[in-house]
Parts: sequence; structure tokens; C-alpha cells
Amino acid sequence: MAFVKVAALSELEEGTPKRVELDGTPVSLVRTDGEVFAINDICSHANVSLSEGEVDDCSIECWLHGSSFDLRTGKPSGLPATRPVPVYPVKIQGDDVLVSVTQES
Ligand code: FES
Repeated sequence: MAFVKVAALSELEEGTPKRVELDGTPVSLVRTDGEVFAINDICSHANVSLSEGEVDDCSIECWLHGSSFDLRTGKPSGLPATRPVPVYPVKIQGDDVLVSVTQES
């Protein structure tokens, strides 16, 4: 599983998603509750960027139709989305945030 540096921890604001691309995969980085999560940036309901949505504790809400996705599992908590969004493992090394998109967790 290849972990790649995608951001500096110090540049991630609590509760404000940051979109990055890794090997062509759009990823939303979310710092919340003292942790950093990586979730695929595309909503499973339609082609919309989740990083433009609202973060609430450990979930992110799609701005278009309001489905929320658990940042730990990618599962939607309500309609209209029914399929999970891939989530990826994150490692913090000093101020480096590393993500692996080669294997979904
Ligand atoms: S596009 Fe995200 S819930 Fe519809």
C-alpha cells in the first residue's frame, strides 16, 4: 500500500475539507475531531464534489441533495445516496499527511 504525501497537517483547517488529487483520484481531506480522514471527493449519487459540502463531526454532507457520508466508512446515512463513497487510509508523519488510494479501507 503506497502512502503519498498530499498535504501539510498545518494547512488543514478543522472542519474545512480540502480537495487533492492522488494518482488521478479526487480525494477530500477532512480534519475533524482531532483526526484526518480521506474520502473520495465524488458523491455516490451524482458527480458532485463532496469537499464543497459541510462537515459535521465525523460526517460530510453533500451540498446538492443533502446525503451525509460517514468519514470513517463512507456509508451514507440517508437518501438519496444509497451507495458508499470509498474512504482511504491516512497516516500522519510530523506535519505530513499521507494517503494511500491503492487500497480502499
Ligand atoms: S449529488 Fe450528492 S446527494 Fe445527490
